[in-house]
Amino acid sequence: MSEPLSVLIIGCGRVAVKHVKAIKDLKGKVILKGLCDARRESAEKLLRESGLSGDIQIYEDYKEAIDALKPDITAATVPSGLHYEVARYAMEHGSDLLLEKPMAMSTGESRDIYDIARRNGRKIAMGHIYRYLPIVGLIRDDISTGKYGKVTHGSIYVRWGHGDDYYDSAAWRGTWKSDGGALMNQTIHAIDLLVWLMGSEPSEATAMISRRLRHIEAEDLGMAVLRLENGALAQIEGATCTDPSKHVAMFTVCLEKATLSMGLDSGKPKLDLRLAGGKKLNGKYIRKQLSKYGLSFTIKSALNPHLGIYRNLEESIRSGNDPIADSYAGFSSVDTLMGIYRSAKEGRTVKLPLTEDFASTDMADYEL
Ligand SMILES: NC(=O)c1ccc[n+]([C@@H]2O[C@H](COP(=O)([O-])OP(=O)(O)OC[C@H]3O[C@@H](n4cnc5c(N)ncnc54)[C@H](O)[C@@H]3O)[C@@H](O)[C@H]2O)c1
Repeated sequence: MSEPLSVLIIGCGRVAVKHVKAIKDLKGKVILKGLCDARRESAEKLLRESGLSGDIQIYEDYKEAIDALKPDITAATVPSGLHYEVARYAMEHGSDLLLEKPMAMSTGESRDIYDIARRNGRKIAMGHIYRYLPIVGLIRDDISTGKYGKVTHGSIYVRWGHGDDYYDSAAWRGTWKSDGGALMNQTIHAIDLLVWLMGSEPSEATAMISRRLRHIEAEDLGMAVLRLENGALAQIEGATCTDPSKHVAMFTVCLEKATLSMGLDSGKPKLDLRLAGGKKLNGKYIRKQLSKYGLSFTIKSALNPHLGIYRNLEESIRSGNDPIADSYAGFSSVDTLMGIYRSAKEGRTVKLPLTEDFASTDMADYEL
């Protein structure tokens, strides 16, 4: 039995709670060695509330933490504007990464992270939670073999309402420099999933964004159409100007021989996969998921997809395989997002991947 891989979490806010829970559930495979937060009391609170004990060190400075602990895995759960510097330092000091989405705030930074990972043989598992639901992977495998014929088009809507209280809870939220808006924060991992399911890279983006209700710099509503290299079209809606008590993320993929609709509606999973003519295939995939992953992991990973991310990253580090949402997924989704923002700003369709660097801060002079 191999030693558990050591983990250092940098940034002890909202999402870090899910990381700690996943690490607890993977006892024996990974072990928490350190928590770091610029506000020490946040790290102390997370440790207290985690119920974990043992040798877990607390730090305020992430470089000091990485230098001291030399963790196998660094989990970067700091505000998005800090992902680049933390990811870079961790990889250059020998650590693999669980990097929260978005990978970084510009195409240049994301390409750099991707290049460093490849050059140094480092693994990055992106916090693109939707890819890690086991049933999603099984359906994606069958779509990619052509079982359901050609992918014609797809769509997502992410109506992840947040009030001004959410945006006021931390100074970085909703800013162009450190967060972006509804598309960049709440929708990027859904865009990643849609493109992954559709099996082709985006080649063009046409978009509009707006700010309807929230008092933030960036958009609280965005809509876009992507053309993929295989000719399929993807339609995207991302909004936080919706009811904060109801969070919905729904995906549809239309294929020659089947239609897939799935998602989350107020925490409840939805799945409807049926062949042309109406025959439902849901039961087949649910049974396949249970036999491959077991009941306990199926339920726990649906409730906390970060469990699937840690399990997959641990297996990837030991086997040498790439994680399910790897460094390329991180780069490509930021490139798509920057293409969407650029299209909205310039009022035209833009080609992807972008050939020039574009950063979320390039949106600062755009009148919403
Ligand atoms: N994958 C997902 O489902 C998911 C969900 C929520 C958030 N996220 C991502 O996770 C990241 C964090 O989001 P959050 O909602 O947890 O934010 P948060 O504001 O709740 O937490 C961020 C923490 O980082 C700390 N911090 C700030 N600067 C630091 C520094 N220099 N060194 C160490 N710590 C520092 C803050 O004090 C804070 O405790 C964001 O990038 C967000 O997009 C991902």
